[in-house]
Amino acid sequence: MPRAQRNILIVGGGGREHALAWKLVQSPMAGRVLVAPGNGGTATEAGVENLNIDATDIDALVAFAADAEIGLTVVGPEAPLVAGIVDAFSAAGLACFGPARAAARLEGSKAFAKDFMGRHGIPTARHRHFDDVDGALRHLREVGAPIVVKADGLAAGKGVILADDLYTAEAAVRDMLSGDRFGAAGSTVVIEEWLRGTEVSYIALVDGAHILPLASAQDYKARDDGGRGPNTGGMGAFSPSHLMLPDLEHRILDEVMRPTVAGLAADGLQYVGFLYAGLMIAEGGTPYVLEYNCRLGDPETQPILLRLRSDLLALIDAAAAGRLHQVEAHWHEQAALGVVLAAGGYPGDYATGLPVRIDVPRMPNDRVKVFHAGTRIQGGQLLSTSGRVLCAAALGDDLAEARNTAYAALQDVEMPGGFYRRDIGRDAT
Ligand code: AMP
Ligand code: GLY
Repeated sequence: MPRAQRNILIVGGGGREHALAWKLVQSPMAGRVLVAPGNGGTATEAGVENLNIDATDIDALVAFAADAEIGLTVVGPEAPLVAGIVDAFSAAGLACFGPARAAARLEGSKAFAKDFMGRHGIPTARHRHFDDVDGALRHLREVGAPIVVKADGLAAGKGVILADDLYTAEAAVRDMLSGDRFGAAGSTVVIEEWLRGTEVSYIALVDGAHILPLASAQDYKARDDGGRGPNTGGMGAFSPSHLMLPDLEHRILDEVMRPTVAGLAADGLQYVGFLYAGLMIAEGGTPYVLEYNCRLGDPETQPILLRLRSDLLALIDAAAAGRLHQVEAHWHEQAALGVVLAAGGYPGDYATGLPVRIDVPRMPNDRVKVFHAGTRIQGGQLLSTSGRVLCAAALGDDLAEARNTAYAALQDVEMPGGFYRRDIGRDAT
């Protein structure tokens, strides 16, 4: 291995992590690239290896990284970040990219995030938080519906109830505070005003002081066409977003991103990593923060990284060294779009272990990339392991071409009961 090369460990096993592995392995500075635990896609990606350690088994990950001379660990999902994986790696003298536990609370605790925004004048929905049922119910009766009830902690996107009427809001409060459906994540509830407007995401690299925005992307959270059905982790995404006009981006940077990074530093929390703000843009153009994520989005990462021309490893190095103001990210002019194939029943109950067939030879390889999410290989066969199974992503000279190519690729994928939205990108083409 040439001296300049480093072994890289990617923590996680979803589509976002497949995209990270696919991109990082292209860096001339990358030695071995391992993904823990990875999936069927990372298992077969050229130059990438899977490592059979769970993404939340921090002790085992630290031990492996020390042993295998891992030069950089990049963390995909929020759970290990919120659990303190970066602190554990640092304590062992190992480089791990992402916010430390105290800063990851921006995602790990909605009550913490709300207090933080209040303290630093960052626009967000008016709210109160409660850990007792009586107090929460009394407050609900005072403010009335429509209203939003959220479980405080990580709830895999399922801890948010948009209540049209008081009955639904009260049931959500009881369910979270007295039921055990959310475990510790539901021991505090946040009750907040229901904001109206247009939802956009903003994702950037942050080095503790500087911000390097990534290409814009639009995500589709609802399960069904037309934005109907239950909320999911994301059913598709495209980049760039037609909604991210220069005026809006300036406001997001001035009113949300810069005050967030400055506020974290002022509070003594060094934030290094990817920072994702989920925003509601109100009629007057004010960007209100719905939530912070301390990581990249999934599936936004898949089209975003397809468009990235720069070496991602060099950008991450710059962020880790506090040098983001000295680098630039270069993007393909082309558009990229990804469509998620999900298992029948998702985001409710669904079967796993279903055979997934991808007719690779038919795919135009220079324009299409199938990023796996919930797959594994067993006995030479590709099987599903979770609700979101894969994301067919494509580049195109414009969004319509990217969209046509991604949907054409899905014609060559088969899974019993699998489904996908037919309208990803349609509102923008
Ligand atoms: P969160 O996990 O906080 O982003 O919430 C999940 C989704 O619920 C968001 O993407 C929004 O679509 C919606 N949501 C959350 N909070 C609010 C709010 N205060 N007003 C309107 N919609 C909201
Ligand atoms: N796609 C939304 C998220 O990653 O949070």
